[in-house]
Amino acid sequence: MGGWLLLLVAGSLWASLGEGGSPTCGYPPQLWCSSSEIARACQAEKHCAKWIPSSPQANSVSVSLYYESLCPACRQFLVMTLFPTWLMLNNIMNVTLVPYGNAKESKEAAKWHFECQHGEDECLGNMIETCLTHLHPRVAFVLIFCMESSIDVIHNLPLCLKLYAPEISLANITACVNGDLGNKLMHENAKLTRALQPSHEYVPWILINGVHTDKLQTQAEESLFELVCKLYKGDLPPACRQPKELSLLPLPPNYTFLRK
Ligand SMILES: *[C@@H]1O[C@H](CO)[C@@H](O)[C@H](O)[C@H]1NC(C)=O
Ligand SMILES: *[C@@H]1O[C@H](CO)[C@@H](O)[C@H](O)[C@H]1NC(C)=O
Ligand SMILES: *[C@@H]1O[C@H](CO)[C@@H](O)[C@H](O)[C@H]1NC(C)=O
Repeated sequence: MGGWLLLLVAGSLWASLGEGGSPTCGYPPQLWCSSSEIARACQAEKHCAKWIPSSPQANSVSVSLYYESLCPACRQFLVMTLFPTWLMLNNIMNVTLVPYGNAKESKEAAKWHFECQHGEDECLGNMIETCLTHLHPRVAFVLIFCMESSIDVIHNLPLCLKLYAPEISLANITACVNGDLGNKLMHENAKLTRALQPSHEYVPWILINGVHTDKLQTQAEESLFELVCKLYKGDLPPACRQPKELSLLPLPPNYTFLRK
């Protein structure tokens, strides 16, 4: 799936530069969006902005997802709804990911110990995604999307880095995951999750502008795109004004992970 999206992005870049455009930037097209510097050098900033977004505007609609890295319904929402919506609306939408969900924590000496609903692999996935968000906020979401859309969530990190952010050091992420920093960050996720009002009853647990209700959860799951456009108070971006002309990314109908 990650590779598939990449092909789509690379394909549209080729299409736009194909006539008369002579990309002399020295990078193959699949790397043009891997950092803002490369995007600039390859004159692909406009296209890459779709998924290496600028900061959302101050009045953007905030969408917070409390989830677990291996929960099937969480993966479905993140991969098929949240990420595609954000690709189109990231300038009016602020996404916060809090991987923890139904995990439990206990203090062991100076460190926190975590137990996750879907086992140790899930704790590792939560930790990787937390470290990515902390260390590389600008590209974290596309990397998390890449992981979550893979058959093997946790072992696909190196491939996802290679595809989307080759400048990032895997060793630095591993150091965070195994070290005090990751431990501290995950404890923060635990505190955020426990502080939810009302407290979460299931995952994925969605907050819109900081609020969770059954109705908002259902609307977000059924059509996040329309909900964000509806709630945004500023000038509507073209994507919201012409919803019929712009369809969601043509995601393949059935994901391998959904069939498990
Ligand atoms: C996005 O959401 C985070 C967490 O809720 C918040 O700290 C940040 O200020 C928000 N940014 C914008 C631009 O709204
Ligand atoms: C890895 O972390 C070190 C120490 O924080 C930092 O100096 C270095 O730039 C990082 N490397 C990459 C590729 O991000
Ligand atoms: C998707 O998977 C379900 C269950 O495996 C199956 O019934 C359905 O026909 C599939 N849909 C498509 C479009 O392949």
